[in-house]
Amino acid sequence: MQFSKHQPEMSPLFRDDGGELLYQLFLCGIALDKGYTAGGGLLLAPGMVGEDIFQGDSCQVYPAGVRGQLKAKDILLLGQRLHVAKLCRFAGNQKPLNEDFLDIKLREREDQHAFRRLRLPDGKTDLCSNDYLGIATGGLIERVLDQARDRHGSGGSRLLAGNYPLVEETEKMLAIFHAAEAGLIFNSGYDANLGLLSCLPQRGDTILYDQLSHASIRDGMRLSFARAFSFGHNDLTDLERKLASAEGNKFVVTESVFSMDGDQAPLAEMAAVCRRYGAHFIVDEAHATGVIGERGEGLVQVLGLQQECLARVHTFGKAVGCHGAIVLGSHRLRDYLVNYCRPFIYTTALPASAVRAIQTAYGLFPGMDRERGHLRALIDRLRGARLRFERLESVTPIQGVVVPGNEAVKTLAQGLQAEGLDIRPILYPTVPKGRERLRIVLHAFNTMEDMEKLIGLLAG
Ligand SMILES: Cc1ncc(COP(=O)(O)O)c(C=O)c1O
Repeated sequence: MQFSKHQPEMSPLFRDDGGELLYQLFLCGIALDKGYTAGGGLLLAPGMVGEDIFQGDSCQVYPAGVRGQLKAKDILLLGQRLHVAKLCRFAGNQKPLNEDFLDIKLREREDQHAFRRLRLPDGKTDLCSNDYLGIATGGLIERVLDQARDRHGSGGSRLLAGNYPLVEETEKMLAIFHAAEAGLIFNSGYDANLGLLSCLPQRGDTILYDQLSHASIRDGMRLSFARAFSFGHNDLTDLERKLASAEGNKFVVTESVFSMDGDQAPLAEMAAVCRRYGAHFIVDEAHATGVIGERGEGLVQVLGLQQECLARVHTFGKAVGCHGAIVLGSHRLRDYLVNYCRPFIYTTALPASAVRAIQTAYGLFPGMDRERGHLRALIDRLRGARLRFERLESVTPIQGVVVPGNEAVKTLAQGLQAEGLDIRPILYPTVPKGRERLRIVLHAFNTMEDMEKLIGLLAG
């Protein structure tokens, strides 16, 4: 039996053949195109040993390397190692799914060296998570909480059976913490931005957003009927110029700390521009929550701008160490969202156990001065180091080191991974071409020794 590049594109991995399982792995077209193999293939059944594996005439990717009893797990591992194996499953005479249209797009990612894969944690030093203060990593919530006290399940949408006193109490508590009139909890920061940006601006209105805004902001605007234009990153002149010609109600959207660059928006100046043009100001505080301010209240409050913002978004998936988000603003804004915001209305409410965890984490914030102080020391040390790459200017735990080119930044990240440092490359198209980078995220639980090791590996 021969497999070749002319073999049907469908490459079943598992086949239920008359009750007997046959496992079959083909290399798909991507591999063939890249010349890894021309006609290499693998066909095996449970119980087969390495020697029984059929190999195509010029298969070089897995030469006689597989020994012993082969299980589905081994085959999957092989598939992962090859990166290009196409895995699918079908039973009996059932026709394989036609997913060729997916392959075309996946191949684009491969060609850009930007193919994404899910990974499991493997014990490396965490320099990539958003758990800035270590609340999730250190199990700090579990230490305080009686897990059995709250329901883990959920009864429905907040507007139907999913509302309960704890969630409303938490909204009030967080509104007080953040010096806002009211708050509304969402299931994620993504949902909050999606909902806010899609339901506030109406047809005929204009949204102006920083060009580095998070995908959730962009996706929200795409769902809105308003027109949306970006302004240059933190560029007040460009913002003002665009506001001058904006039509309808005007909305200005930014992040207080940018998720990919770690720098801060000039919020005070932007608020002043918004006031001058009568624009509504919306600030996403995802990466400032817990980290900026004496109690981790965020940049808006540090600058005393809460009255200038129509809405603020604080997410719970970063320093809060939980999941969800809150939109802060007036009671009227809250009522509006409850009535018009589809990602709030048409989804199941967070369970009480999740909300209790959020409340608990917020209770920890004021006492985490030592953690915030250590974070600052780590940030200062990295900022003071001489590196052989451009370092993006940032005083926050998000530190970018620019390594142009997807392949170059991936290779460097792999080298750091091999040294035990879990640092992820950020690739084009997530960031513009030429601005690919290592996104180094610092945490209160990282040690100065971790930092010295990192600096040693990146030193100029
Ligand atoms: C700036 C910003 N806003 C919103 C989100 C989405 O938050 P969540 O992860 O809670 O969906 C993120 C997540 O990375 C973010 O960086």
